[in-house]
Amino acid sequence: MANLFVVGTQWGDEGKGKIVDVLAKEADIVARFQGGPNAGHTVVYDGQKFILHIIPSGILHPNKRCIIGDGVVVDPGGLLEEIEGLTDRGIEVEGRLFLSDHAHLIMPYHKAIDAESEKALGKKGIGTTKRGIGPTYADQASRISIRFCDLMDEEIFREKLERNLKEKNFLLEHYYGAGSFDSKEIVATFKKYREKFSHYVTDTRTILKDAFKSSKKILFEGAQGTLLDINHGTYPFVTSSATTVGGVCSGLGVPPKMIHTVLGVVKAYTTRVGGGPFPTEIHGDTCEQIRQNGSEFGSTTGRPRRCGWLDFVALRHSVWINGIDHLAITRLDVLDGLEELKICTAYRYNEEILVDTFPHTEVLDRCEPVYETLPGWKTKTEGTRTYEDLPQEAKDYVTLISDTLKASLAIISTGESRDSTIIRESLY
Ligand code: IMP
Repeated sequence: MANLFVVGTQWGDEGKGKIVDVLAKEADIVARFQGGPNAGHTVVYDGQKFILHIIPSGILHPNKRCIIGDGVVVDPGGLLEEIEGLTDRGIEVEGRLFLSDHAHLIMPYHKAIDAESEKALGKKGIGTTKRGIGPTYADQASRISIRFCDLMDEEIFREKLERNLKEKNFLLEHYYGAGSFDSKEIVATFKKYREKFSHYVTDTRTILKDAFKSSKKILFEGAQGTLLDINHGTYPFVTSSATTVGGVCSGLGVPPKMIHTVLGVVKAYTTRVGGGPFPTEIHGDTCEQIRQNGSEFGSTTGRPRRCGWLDFVALRHSVWINGIDHLAITRLDVLDGLEELKICTAYRYNEEILVDTFPHTEVLDRCEPVYETLPGWKTKTEGTRTYEDLPQEAKDYVTLISDTLKASLAIISTGESRDSTIIRESLY
């Protein structure tokens, strides 16, 4: 199988960064198709920790080409910092990173509107990362957004900026009572970005088309997770992009036949950051134990993540939406030492039992999880590299997941580093 899509099956933070990093070794190109710097993909190798927000995790492998596609929203200042941070640590980026001329720019006013809108919503807020993601995609849908191809032309950029600023400043000043932006300052800052990015901005669609024709292996790197998808997630508590399989095609300009296999990344328990329904959420000591064991704090915002048990109803939905045929189960080691584990097998909603339907947010809010309880394991799984070395209870746990979801268990991750990985099946 040549091209592989790696997708998060929960609310993001499943550990996709590490899985992409492990698989990137075999790929020629790693491509991001959606989202922006709201993502935080953590990769650890040689004792060094890297947190990538926008650059595909494949950049950490020499000679791999990385693409930031049409459907990604990019904060140019943040991207520049990320490029410089990697370059300072000896990782060559120029000549390997290709940025779509169709990708949309996150402008300073998008970040301000994101923050003000969340402030105005108060307790009813989405709990966004305040990186300007929603307002940028809103401008894309309104057809007023500024793209990298616009940035490359000084006059077009200035004209679009000035037109947008009239509306954005009015909103910021008169609706939110916040500060406004000066076009001259933005023009001056973005002039620097024009120069810096002129080596990176290109037609990434053609790169992918040529790669396909010459049978190169492409890894499509998802950000966030299925339950944060704008259409198929827990709307409105979602991100503003298509995080699922359809997003690969629309976000990169590639046909569906280019996606040969889909690997769903399942964290061995569930977490979510921000607001919204979470039927299997747990509180108290067990939650704290999982949060501390798994360092469950947002890699972009540092917020403590909400923790809960695995949820088969939500996972069945993710498997169906994405056509998942293989699984990577991550962070198994975080559950080491727990007396018992619970798995939600169905939801109880009034008199109904829901197994195969993932309801909309208002119903989901009122669903009660139906749990099956399994014994925990006493031996450490951390750092385990072979399936045979896992304790029997851990084997039973992962087997139950793969049997229930009817997807083969390709990878088990037992720790942060590249080495702490059990590969059961080659995906290439
Ligand atoms: P936004 O993407 O910043 O607009 O945030 C919308 C929702 O998605 C919030 O609940 C965020 O916490 C969540 N979110 C966005 N990106 C990530 C991610 O990479 N991991 C986990 N949650 C995320």
